[in-house]
Amino acid sequence: MNGFRARYGPYALVAGASAGLGEAFARRLAERGLNLLLVARRPDALEQLAADLRTRHAVEVRTLAADLGRPDLREVVERAADGLTIGLLVYNAAYSVIGPFVDHSLDEQLRVLEVNCRGPLVLSHLLGKAMAERGRGGIVLMTSMAGSQGGPWLATYAASKAFNLVLAEGLWDELGERGVDVVACRAGATRTPGYAASRPRPSRVPLLEPDQVVRVALDALGRKPSVVPGGFYRFSAFVMNRLLPRRVAVRIMGRATRRLYAGRDGSPAS
Ligand SMILES: NC(=O)c1ccc[n+]([C@@H]2O[C@H](COP(=O)([O-])OP(=O)(O)OC[C@H]3O[C@@H](n4cnc5c(N)ncnc54)[C@H](OP(=O)(O)O)[C@@H]3O)[C@@H](O)[C@H]2O)c1
Repeated sequence: MNGFRARYGPYALVAGASAGLGEAFARRLAERGLNLLLVARRPDALEQLAADLRTRHAVEVRTLAADLGRPDLREVVERAADGLTIGLLVYNAAYSVIGPFVDHSLDEQLRVLEVNCRGPLVLSHLLGKAMAERGRGGIVLMTSMAGSQGGPWLATYAASKAFNLVLAEGLWDELGERGVDVVACRAGATRTPGYAASRPRPSRVPLLEPDQVVRVALDALGRKPSVVPGGFYRFSAFVMNRLLPRRVAVRIMGRATRRLYAGRDGSPAS
């Protein structure tokens, strides 16, 4: 525990912390003794979680109610983090549009880039620079199984998740040489409010639990550039990305996504 705090503390910033996987990250990091700066849009949800964590774990918890897609993200976070030593960044928030690419507006597709690509880039640069100068720290970028090949009906989201994966891999090597551990967590379907809100049809694909995903992601820090939680998804990743021709993997993703979301014209989801 203390080793973890010494390496990644005293503060962690969790971006997208008020629900789902972000909340699970916040809970596990507080349990490991890290103080927290929690970022999400809903101030009430953040405050409620912060109060609970302060009581349970006697850690300091600050909150920042902000949209991670805002153009002045760097300045807003810099102000909120002033005076704090942030040794761990978890970029968890994401935005997605599901359904035929051309049925969604360009503004919606650009929002995917702002929240899923620009946000993690800005925060990895801002906080990663300070970590590299200190010679210690960690960055976890949440990505998805969807980011390993083209994703029909999720084309922009899948591409944004590929950005997270490849960014994390590059930084794993580069920042790793300066004492900063970087990992991309390639999650499969996980039981979160965001997943439920996407209204998937019932399917036989097993759902991961947020705690399971968080444990695997944190345990992989400093060990590997990316990690896939859950045996079913590790096997799927092996088949899809190592055994099958890429065009076949894309077709399979397209069939699976259409089956999951058939009968609807798409709405925001994780
Ligand atoms: N759940 C899955 O099945 C699944 C599968 C693969 C990968 N993932 C990845 O795992 C991550 C988390 O997914 P999740 O299902 O836990 O999501 P979620 O339940 O929708 O929660 C997302 C969190 O991010 C915050 N958030 C969303 N947009 C934001 C914005 N623009 N600015 C600030 N905060 C924002 C939300 O809080 P507010 O509403 O208060 O802002 C919430 O705290 C994502 O990166 C997703 O791509 C999830």
